[in-house]
Amino acid sequence: MKPKTDLIDSNTQLTYKLLFESNPLPMLVYARDSGRVLYANHAAAACYGHSVAQLVELHLSDIHHPEDWPEMRERMKLTASACLPQRVWRHRDVDGHTIYVEVDTEDVDLNDQQARIVLVRDVTQHHDDVKRLRQEHERMNAIVDASNEAIISTDVAGCIQTFNPGAERVFGHRAEHMLGRSVHLLLPERYRAAHARHLAVFAKSDGTPRMMGLRIVKGLHADGRELEMEGAIALVKIGADLVLISTLRDMTELLSADAERQAARTQLSHLTHRLMSQEKDLVKRIARLLHDQLGQTIAAMRLIFETISTLRSGKKSMQLQQLNLQMQALIDQAILQMRVVLVDLHPPMFDEHGLAAALDNEMRSRALSGSPIQLVFEVAPEVATLRWESGCEYAVFMIAREALENAIRHSNATLVTMTLSGSATELELTVIDNGRGIARDSHSKEGHLGMTGIMERAKSIDASVEIGPAPERGTRIRVHWVAAQQ
Ligand SMILES: Nc1ncnc2c1ncn2[C@@H]1O[C@H](COP(=O)(O)OP(=O)(O)OP(=O)(O)O)[C@@H](O)[C@H]1O
Ligand SMILES: [Mg+2]
Repeated sequence: MKPKTDLIDSNTQLTYKLLFESNPLPMLVYARDSGRVLYANHAAAACYGHSVAQLVELHLSDIHHPEDWPEMRERMKLTASACLPQRVWRHRDVDGHTIYVEVDTEDVDLNDQQARIVLVRDVTQHHDDVKRLRQEHERMNAIVDASNEAIISTDVAGCIQTFNPGAERVFGHRAEHMLGRSVHLLLPERYRAAHARHLAVFAKSDGTPRMMGLRIVKGLHADGRELEMEGAIALVKIGADLVLISTLRDMTELLSADAERQAARTQLSHLTHRLMSQEKDLVKRIARLLHDQLGQTIAAMRLIFETISTLRSGKKSMQLQQLNLQMQALIDQAILQMRVVLVDLHPPMFDEHGLAAALDNEMRSRALSGSPIQLVFEVAPEVATLRWESGCEYAVFMIAREALENAIRHSNATLVTMTLSGSATELELTVIDNGRGIARDSHSKEGHLGMTGIMERAKSIDASVEIGPAPERGTRIRVHWVAAQQ
């Protein structure tokens, strides 16, 4: 029963007045017909920044946000008990700032006037917090949505809670089909049991956040393709729940391109290997052919020509004599040219005397050909007589020849030292010049294949090779070969 104001004695009235005025919650009383504020307590004055006297001067529309006022005006016509849903209203304080409030109302008769008591709850702080949280949430969602990677969160039973657009792209499933379903749908069948066991371990976790680093994992696309993915998983606690957040990047194309590149490189290396071993045999055959057949033919030609010349010696005209001399010179030149080609193709002494003798010979003939650079070959006597596998000797000789050629052509050095050392099962060759050193961009010169040849030849005999600066200045090339264990 509502107390009838006129029946209440003055003592009780005083008590109610006190209860109203000193209530810590803001309270207003307004006339339902006019919307005029009739009473306001101190807490309301503090809430709106007005004095109590100023508040009582106001109309309800003065404290409502203009956009909220039409609805409030409608509610004034209804009784307070009309059970309208609770909502947040925008009120304005003395400076025009918005205060977010929730209100509880009760209708009363005050001296035959229909009035409404309003209990105001200032929820501005709560409203601002919610707004900030919502913005934060939207920002996080935008980041997750914008990510190119698949970001999927599940509970520890594997039930999908988040499936971002990146995940839609990677797995080919729509998010609305995946939410609430098992993450196992994204795994090839054979990995599902193991994954379930992992989840069971996570489920027992105490919730301490854990981050499992990057690793390659398998996924299953909606079209049945298997995916190679690089992924990281984080275990976090959100509220009371354990949540697994997986971030996955599709590496299928990258890894298969990588594998193709690797296969092509291996194939190329095999090809080089084969070409190099064929080169050695081919060169040997051509050298033998030149020496044994073409060489013999030219020598026979010379012999016959000399015999013809002797037979004709008595009756030679001047012109014939001149032609004779020219022919002689041409034959000599052919023999010389063939020798040069022979030396180039097949280093002399290589087969008979071995690598040290062939290298020594190479250095001497380069020195004799007028190189202004001092060329020094160092080899210990006990090493000079050693022999190694023929393929190894050939490759090391060709490396030495290219290194020497480069030092003479490119280094501007005054001294080039070639050193051969080793034992029956080991061999080391170094070529050091004191020149200007190899410029940084030299390796990338198109069509310059000497260095590549050095590295490929070393690789073909499983030797290591170092190309770099010499201890003081210039360039140092070192090849180190160790015989394979029997
Ligand atoms: N000892 C060296 N001192 C200074 N520069 C060098 C030396 N060796 C090589 N270079 C530089 O490295 C580059 C590459 O050498 P590389 O042997 O691969 O090619 P190239 O000698 O120019 O040509 P190619 O060997 O194919 O006839 C050279 O052009 C040169 O600039
Ligand atoms: Mg070269």
